[in-house]
Amino acid sequence: MTIKKVGVVGSGLMGRGIAEVCARAGYDVVLVASRDESLQRGLKILESSLTRAVEKGRSTLEEKKTALSHIVGTIKNEDLKDCDFVIESVNENMELKRNVFIEMDKVCPPHTIFATNTSCLSVMEIASTTQRPDKVLGLHFFNPVPMMKLVEIVKTFTTGEETLAISQSFAKSLGKETLTVSDTPGFIVVRLVMPFVLGAIRLYESGVASKEEIDQAIVLGLNYPTGPLSLCDFIGLDTILSISTAMYQELKDPQYTPPVLLKRLVAAGHLGRKTNKGFYYYDKR
Ligand SMILES: NC(=O)c1ccc[n+]([C@@H]2O[C@H](COP(=O)([O-])OP(=O)(O)OC[C@H]3O[C@@H](n4cnc5c(N)ncnc54)[C@H](O)[C@@H]3O)[C@@H](O)[C@H]2O)c1
Repeated sequence: MTIKKVGVVGSGLMGRGIAEVCARAGYDVVLVASRDESLQRGLKILESSLTRAVEKGRSTLEEKKTALSHIVGTIKNEDLKDCDFVIESVNENMELKRNVFIEMDKVCPPHTIFATNTSCLSVMEIASTTQRPDKVLGLHFFNPVPMMKLVEIVKTFTTGEETLAISQSFAKSLGKETLTVSDTPGFIVVRLVMPFVLGAIRLYESGVASKEEIDQAIVLGLNYPTGPLSLCDFIGLDTILSISTAMYQELKDPQYTPPVLLKRLVAAGHLGRKTNKGFYYYDKR
């Protein structure tokens, strides 16, 4: 099967990054948002990301224009009707994702492959809402999508070999390296990183050190590019809370319990960089 048109559902942090890399690789992209306001915001940030790539010499002005010409934004799921491959990247919530897959299954032709960008939820549980579980798998991208090399490919009990092979070469065509993992909570990266970031939140919560000191300790002591609390702000505290809640529910391992401070920050609207406030405050510009 030749992939020409790619659908991306969700124009948030990850969805717009996935749309950008697909368009830069020459695919026609249909970017679906739930509301016009989030669509416009997503398209604006996507364009800024392409502009930044030109400014940093990673891309040319011509390539930016070509990429933009490949992207169509919409708030109608029906516009996914000619897509060969659809990547769902809505919020980390099982019910929401299952409903999106039900809609995708109604609209798309039988050959269309469906991928979820879930960080930790069961891909099988999502796939079971469709009439094509052999054509469903996880494609777990990393943030920021244009920069990060890895895509974890999540295979369920029912993912077909052809679906897997097509998806692997599709991810490679986006310039990504792939690893195939089984459908388990958090796959490899999230399974390992969550106890680390949640541990950092608990350390801060217990008053052992300031947030700056905790982040500095990891950057200077382990040579990580960013500290765990800054990383939480970058990922989104709402996303961290959803992942932590879902992983604890599945594994009943206390390492994944959501810290109280995390719940309170999310309740207060401190979602990280996306709301300009999380553990840290960010300049609106
Ligand atoms: N943030 C990260 O670092 C990261 C990394 C890897 C994977 N993920 C996963 O990617 C997915 C998206 O996360 P995000 O960080 O982009 O979240 P986000 O909050 O930035 O974006 C989610 C978007 O989905 C939209 N949405 C909700 N319902 C929708 C619907 N029915 N149709 C279309 N759009 C809809 C929301 O309006 C929002 O714009 C989650 O499953 C998350 O676990 C996130």
